[in-house]
Amino acid sequence: MHKDFDQSSYLYDRSQRFLAGGVNSPSRAFNAVGGHPVFISRGSGPYLYDVDGNRYIDFLCAYGALILGHGHPAVTAAVEAQLPHGTVYGAPTELEARLAELLCRHIPIIDQVRFNASGTEAVMTAIRLARGVTGRRLILKFTGSYHGHSDLVLIAAGSGSSTLGIEDSLGIPPEVKAGVISIPYNNPAALRQAMAERGDEIAAVLVEPVVGNFGIVPPVPGFLELIEELAQASGALVIWDEVITAFRFTYGSVSSLFHLRPDIITLGKLIGGGLPIGAYGARREIMSAVAPLGGVYQDGTFAGNPLSMAAGLACLSALATPGIYERLAGYAARLVAVIKSAAQKHGIPVHVGHFGGAFSVHFTAEPVLDSAACDRADSSTFAEFFHLCLEEGLLIAPSKYEAWFVSAALGEDDVAYTEEALERIFARLNTSRQR
Ligand SMILES: Cc1ncc(COP(=O)(O)O)c(C=O)c1O
Repeated sequence: MHKDFDQSSYLYDRSQRFLAGGVNSPSRAFNAVGGHPVFISRGSGPYLYDVDGNRYIDFLCAYGALILGHGHPAVTAAVEAQLPHGTVYGAPTELEARLAELLCRHIPIIDQVRFNASGTEAVMTAIRLARGVTGRRLILKFTGSYHGHSDLVLIAAGSGSSTLGIEDSLGIPPEVKAGVISIPYNNPAALRQAMAERGDEIAAVLVEPVVGNFGIVPPVPGFLELIEELAQASGALVIWDEVITAFRFTYGSVSSLFHLRPDIITLGKLIGGGLPIGAYGARREIMSAVAPLGGVYQDGTFAGNPLSMAAGLACLSALATPGIYERLAGYAARLVAVIKSAAQKHGIPVHVGHFGGAFSVHFTAEPVLDSAACDRADSSTFAEFFHLCLEEGLLIAPSKYEAWFVSAALGEDDVAYTEEALERIFARLNTSRQR
């Protein structure tokens, strides 16, 4: 099997003339795996089609922004129904009230939310809110976690910046850097030390409760509990960045799975049904610090726009179908099992990070519990694996730092095909390693 990528190659050359790097997000560049990006012409259910007519089963799912697949009938109908009535008003709508109510009803730890146009804005505002409420400056975060591209969280950020080896973005003033402490994830000793040394200056501990940005890395038992305990003891707030996790693993926040109560949560990606969105929410007394009630300012021309609200409502209604999360987790577990057994059969060291319907593949013999272990995983084997996946019609992110997301649009046949494709991929990976 050999795929033709001529049209993608042509479009990449053309895009590079007027679009910086030929892409609108560095995560989409193929720098880490070699070659040029595949240009997509359309999506349908679990599939993406490129401009050369190749079909892929989509495990990228727009970096977690999609869970129902492409062109889901209910989401499409909701957007189509809204379109003739306008796309943005600069005035409130019932749709915003309905989506806000749905989120608060299904995430009992929050009383109120505010919508933004992206996860970046949601996290940026949540940090401002925590600082405004506590009157403190410092943010404690975890190295390699990605929280969008606002200045402060690009310090020791993961995801695309790790992929390109950009540890701290240029252009961030030293005074902003001085406002953040970054420590390894899943390291209770480092957490205890940071909180002991600077706890009374820390406005918030910012954490992805299940990491999705140096692979899928669940918290070690007790780690999220320790964050909550130490933050409470020092008067810091806890922000859970659930831009990936909310509604991905359960209907609502993963706080219901961990039985914890972060102070502020950020949301995004799939709550917009595939349209641009972000949101943050908290208890009423925290949210009452947000303008116009309080003095923490946040605005946004496209915040809560009716298209994103309509798509989000349709997506979350469809996701309420009983059994969806069990099905996604079941499919992921099958693929993870195949990867592990195929890797073992061919003597290829692999660590599979796995939580519910998402997983990641690291070519390493060590467990990946933090971003340093992900850094150490073999990038060249990943690059080879990535291109074999493309050849086999499986679309994943071009980076060892990213996750596979299982789509609810997948059918039994797609999963069976993927199992067989993975077997072939590991067999070929082995063959080319012996060469
Ligand atoms: C955990 C997390 N937070 C925030 C963001 C930023 O969201 P957006 O790309 O919508 O700005 C991302 C994006 O990947 C993310 O994974």
